Amino acid sequence: MTKTIRLGTSAPDIARAADLIRDGALVAFPTETVYGLGADATNDLAVAGIFAAKDRPRFNPLIAHVADLDAAEEIVSFSDRASQIAQAFWPGPLTLVLPAPKDAVSELVTAGLPTLAVRVPAHPVAREILRAVGRPVAAPSANPSGRVSPTTADHVFSGLDGRIAAVIDAGPCSVGLESTIVLPANPPQLLRPGGVPVEEIEALIGQPLQRNLSPDSPLSPGQIKSHYAPEAAIRLNVTHPRADEILLGFGPVDAELNLSPEGDLTAAAANLFGYLRQIDTLADGRAIAVSPIPGTGLGLAINDRLARAAAPR
Ligand code: TXA
Ligand code: MG
Repeated sequence: MTKTIRLGTSAPDIARAADLIRDGALVAFPTETVYGLGADATNDLAVAGIFAAKDRPRFNPLIAHVADLDAAEEIVSFSDRASQIAQAFWPGPLTLVLPAPKDAVSELVTAGLPTLAVRVPAHPVAREILRAVGRPVAAPSANPSGRVSPTTADHVFSGLDGRIAAVIDAGPCSVGLESTIVLPANPPQLLRPGGVPVEEIEALIGQPLQRNLSPDSPLSPGQIKSHYAPEAAIRLNVTHPRADEILLGFGPVDAELNLSPEGDLTAAAANLFGYLRQIDTLADGRAIAVSPIPGTGLGLAINDRLARAAAPR
């Protein structure tokens, strides 16, 4: 058992976090989507440590995080369409799956696939760390496998305390949902809905993204159903909750916990994972009912995570 230290966002703390990562240690850091569990993506032992800390199935590939497009171009090849999407949405909550040479990063990151998932996060602290590390940083969400992704440093501590070297605490994540994952092939495919609404990507490229969201899709093996699950049973699209249910509300409804009383999808996305954590305690044995949430904009990703949370285990 290691002692997990809590670091702040001062220059010395960020330098210390970067040194730890360069030395092969695991450091959780904030991104605008969720907290990531970072390791040097070029270090086999460090990346193996991610899987061990999370109890994550080995076949599940990781996202390599880099500071900017130039750094991304050093590890993956961009088609014209991939460049167009990257220029529009990076830095930001978007991941691109692109062809990568075999030795770009540790093979544990790609799980042996010929492609690599790459992202340039927008969070200023994430960007400072990535610049200071100067290497691609592999980072899945900083939670034990199968649990809800962390949107605060305390969430990270509650799942991984004693299993990682440090957590950088920069407060809650602004987006609150993982990145949108796109495979910019022909035709382009949406592998995971997330922080960038698909409509914005489709408007940019002038064509629909093929939805490849099957939970067992070999293209995005991390899309397992139980990923976002609280303990209690969950019923979705409920307008009239039963007496023995706790309502996770959306919009102007009478609910013990409301994702956004104003019906704002951005606010609901930012609250979702924190509320899924809280609701088990509040439910106190009751089942969970969830208000209907529109499927447009960030609503697509919110409904995707809720459907996984509600899936039978
Ligand atoms: O917002 C995010 O993306 C967060 C923050 C920390 O950046 N990270 C994150 O990582 O959500 P993770 O490991 O929880 O999810 C990565 C997803 C998985 O579904 C995985 O299967 C998929 O990316 N993935 C990774 N490499 C892939 C590849 N080469 N082809 C297809 N899917 C891939
Ligand atoms: Mg995850």
